Amino acid sequence: MPEQRRILVTSALPYANGHIHIGHLVEYLQTDIWVRFQKLRGHDCRYFCADDTHGTAITIRAKQEGVSETDIIARMSEAHQRDFADFGIVFDHYSSTNSETNRQLCHQIWAGLRQRDLIIEREVARLFDEEAGTFLADRFVKGSCPKCGAEDQYGDSCDRCGATYSATEVINPVSTISGSTPALRMSNQLFVRIEALHDFLQDWTQSGNHLQPEVANYLKGHFLGEPLHDWDVSRPAPYFGFEIPDAPGNFWYVWFDAPIGYIASCKEWCQAQGEDFARWWGPESEANANTEIHHFIGKDIQYFHTLFWPAMLHAAGFKLPSTVRIHGFLTVDGEKMSKSKGTFVTARTYLKHLSPQYLRYYYAAKLTNRVDDLDLNLDEFVAKINSDLVGKVVNLASRTARFISGEQLQVANPGAALERSRAVREQVAALYESGNFAAAMREIMACADAANEFIENAKPWTLAKDPAKREELIAACSQGLLTYWELVLMLGPVLPDLLQESAKLFGLEHPQWGMSAEGATVGTFRHLMQRVDPKAVAAMIQETATASIDTAPKPNTEKVSSSTASTNENPIEALAPAIDIEQFNAIDLRVAEILHAEAVQESKKLLRLQVSLGGGDERCIFAGIASAYQPADLVGRKVVVIANLPPRKMKFGTSEAMALAAGPGGKEIFLLSPDSGATPGMRIH
Ligand code: 2FM
Ligand code: ZN
Repeated sequence: MPEQRRILVTSALPYANGHIHIGHLVEYLQTDIWVRFQKLRGHDCRYFCADDTHGTAITIRAKQEGVSETDIIARMSEAHQRDFADFGIVFDHYSSTNSETNRQLCHQIWAGLRQRDLIIEREVARLFDEEAGTFLADRFVKGSCPKCGAEDQYGDSCDRCGATYSATEVINPVSTISGSTPALRMSNQLFVRIEALHDFLQDWTQSGNHLQPEVANYLKGHFLGEPLHDWDVSRPAPYFGFEIPDAPGNFWYVWFDAPIGYIASCKEWCQAQGEDFARWWGPESEANANTEIHHFIGKDIQYFHTLFWPAMLHAAGFKLPSTVRIHGFLTVDGEKMSKSKGTFVTARTYLKHLSPQYLRYYYAAKLTNRVDDLDLNLDEFVAKINSDLVGKVVNLASRTARFISGEQLQVANPGAALERSRAVREQVAALYESGNFAAAMREIMACADAANEFIENAKPWTLAKDPAKREELIAACSQGLLTYWELVLMLGPVLPDLLQESAKLFGLEHPQWGMSAEGATVGTFRHLMQRVDPKAVAAMIQETATASIDTAPKPNTEKVSSSTASTNENPIEALAPAIDIEQFNAIDLRVAEILHAEAVQESKKLLRLQVSLGGGDERCIFAGIASAYQPADLVGRKVVVIANLPPRKMKFGTSEAMALAAGPGGKEIFLLSPDSGATPGMRIH
């Protein structure tokens, strides 16, 4: 037995404003499997989580429902915990970021940041609702996206083009509280100067194997190559959260207190269990020098966990994580989860139709230690469970146990299949440890294949017909069942129910990694797992497509600036620097119709065009095309314009858009036009 390790594990804290869905479950199942593995190995491993309760999203939901924020928090916490429990996800403690313990820890860490002079105050412009007399958080502002022009978008991000921005950039902003047009007001904000910790972050992210190599490289290429931006950690009242003690009227931004919730959850558990918190977390000390801290998170929140979080902990002198393990997003049948396609399945809906064990195994079979996205292919899901779990693993027990009920498991000479399953044990353990569950599942299934081949050859169903072959039958079935036990034990972190039922079958208690079943008495065999019925999967999708669900999308986005590394060898680079899709999306290209065209008296080059972008949006464009076109020929023609350039004042008037044309100049200027059928205002993708 290796020495007992003290291991503290967390998953990202789910927002209290929406229900758990199968996308979230990738992470909680991944973490639960890892934690169960460590516990099965005999380590002192503890899994902490909490609901992430602060920020404007909760307030919005509370307002919509006409209840208080704390009502929402209480209800959601219960629902989340029920969902997790029903998927077999077991926390040592589940808390809330809206707890006294968390508030105190926030004070402590804030004091550490202040002491190191890392907090600065700066004036920033924010939108202010003069009717309601309050500053507006980004989510309380709606208007047109500054990047693509889509209407009715929230003040922090656009549903249509995915851009993130500040509410002050929104076009035609409206306060969702009063419906009035907000004004710009200066507000004093507090920032963390994380640039002061640049050297520390450089070291921490690039050495010590705290991060997956691709994550370390990403940070190096995107953030660490230039000064880190100050982090805006305060929000003016009203804001649902903790008030900053030395800045009354200001609250910590939700992303400040959320990760501190990890520590708070651990501390509350220590208090309830009479454990010494100093041995688990808190300021770095000899007591916690050997404690390991592992965070499991998704790739969308890596910036917070790999830069801000270590910076905060380091500045406050707190123990740092050993690893931050980052996974990708879930897609279903190769696409983003979608409500209308019925693939935005909540944990609850899933449970109405299917066993949680199926999803636990399927995710395990697909999870690696890389940041790749994970695709839930519904046909493969059915096929894999039926073939691997029912056809290979459980089949080993169902084809042997019933023949030797009441007998003891024993083997004089372990056969190749049994030996193999014992021999891979440490290798499988190493794969679990590294997070490469997919490879672990493959090893286990290869052993199951070998064991099934053994049973095929031994034919217990034939031996059972001949009383003279009783000894041979017991030996063959024992081999099969001992191998089966090895496999369910290795599958235990993924399929705890199957392990539990199997332990019962052999009268074994407290399974531990590597525990032998030799000498155990075979009990009465009961069916261990049903095949997946594809109709149940279809019914789940159908129900999701037609139900109204309240799984809110992630609301608390925060812009993170990145410098796009242009190491791309695309030939287009020879013409102009490569841009990424976001930069492309930022250009609002539209179809416009020329309503009127005229020469500009004082200019030989320019024509003045009046164009329509549809919906009453008319613009004036000064275009340098006079050498190639007669104004009268242009009227009625549809062209392509850039609609979101800032208006440009010229000698003859203001140009409010730009028409696109190709060619070197003179007579060779060619206006771009869409095919017929395109109408003014259509966006060009
Ligand atoms: O992205 C999210 O869902 C956040 N609620 C995660 C918070 S993790 C931690 F830092 F608390
Ligand atoms: Zn947009």
